Amino acid sequence: MGRSAMCPGTFDPVTNGHIDIIRRASRCFDGVIVAVLANPSKEPLFSAEERVAMLKEAVADIDGVEVSSFDGLLVDHAQDRGAGVVVKGLRGEGDMDFELKMSQMNNRLSGVETFFLPTSPEWSFISSSLIKEIVRFGGDVSGLVPDFVRGRLEERLSTGRD
Ligand code: PNS
Repeated sequence: MGRSAMCPGTFDPVTNGHIDIIRRASRCFDGVIVAVLANPSKEPLFSAEERVAMLKEAVADIDGVEVSSFDGLLVDHAQDRGAGVVVKGLRGEGDMDFELKMSQMNNRLSGVETFFLPTSPEWSFISSSLIKEIVRFGGDVSGLVPDFVRGRLEERLSTGRD
């Protein structure tokens, strides 16, 4: 059996930064399972089903990638799916503190290892929250998320704007 990695996140919505990490992880492992946290503590803009559907479309051209959703502990989902490694992107020092703690806790809970991939510089300033804020105020996020994601953001967030 090959070695699978899990790429977890909220993906509300998927950005080009996420896709870059998933693509690069797929070159390092035999398979990648993208794991969408269905019910994060912050209220997501898109439902779990919508986020999974957007991810499936976004990674359709990457071999060896499947998309799942989960609730509860990431380590339980990783164990259920046979992934011994978690892969996360790191945009900079701001991500490091919390990501390090989560990786250590996940290792303590289950022995799962976390591999960090440095985000490609062209995407290191992107976050799903910033993308939503820009679209909410009428800004253009072309080239930062796939075009179909931009369309869905505009549909969802344009309500109430003149
Ligand atoms: O997109 P994000 O916000 O970076 O993703 C964070 C995520 C979903 C990976 C993290 O919140 C998570 O793993 N949540 C599941 C619950 C869990 O396992 N919590 C303990 C972490 S040590």
